[in-house]
Amino acid sequence: MTTKVVPGSLVALPDGEAVAREAANRLGNCIRNAIDTHGYATVALSGGSTPGPAYAALAENSRIDWAKVEFFFVDERAVPPDSPRSNYRMVKEALFDRVPIPAERIHRMQGEALDLAAAAREYDLEIRSRLRWSESGMAEFDVGVFGIGDDGHTASLFPGEPTVDKTDRLVVDVPAAGNREARLTLTAPVIEQMRVALVLAVGKNKQEPLERVWAASGDVHVTPARYLREVRSVIWLIDKAASGLG
Ligand code: 6PG
Repeated sequence: MTTKVVPGSLVALPDGEAVAREAANRLGNCIRNAIDTHGYATVALSGGSTPGPAYAALAENSRIDWAKVEFFFVDERAVPPDSPRSNYRMVKEALFDRVPIPAERIHRMQGEALDLAAAAREYDLEIRSRLRWSESGMAEFDVGVFGIGDDGHTASLFPGEPTVDKTDRLVVDVPAAGNREARLTLTAPVIEQMRVALVLAVGKNKQEPLERVWAASGDVHVTPARYLREVRSVIWLIDKAASGLG
């Protein structure tokens, strides 16, 4: 039998709607705490299908001073910003279009760039110039929102790909594979250094990858989402189906 040790806090909720509400509350609290402590908050957002409702619920939070929030992306697909596949477009429609946030606070990854490696280097520099740095010398986001792929990926760190091991960059480009388009993604060291990671998982397809992430032993090359275990405060917000009880 595999031993399971869930790092951080596990919050099991009845359904996806409850996950979205809880995620929005917690994200709002992290943002407000960071503003109280440092005068501004740095946030990294994932795309995919799960977090949209949480971002829409966050937009209803009237206690956030939006001018003091710097939004970045965890990853982006190699598509134009108006593509239905664009993570930026999803967040824009759910959140940015609904709150009074100055355009310069939104740091979009240039998924449409012809030279994705150059776009990754630029985004790396943008992060370096805007974030606070930890004592150990790593850019430190106040909070990141993550999902888990059915194959155990998180961000755009996919099982068996060399980007999983990248430690000399904060951002890298991820070549296309199979029918998946190329991507841009934050790398493991910057993910691990986040002050808080909110991990959202909804649906029965997430049960197996979550078990692999929580197993006491495992390999990040097989299950890259295991990197999330290293975040000092990691909160798993899952629904009944993802917990295996649904
Ligand atoms: C993306 C993501 C990715 C996502 C997982 C889970 O652009 O696809 O940022 O890492 O979080 O694939 O995606 P779902 O929420 O769609 O299950």
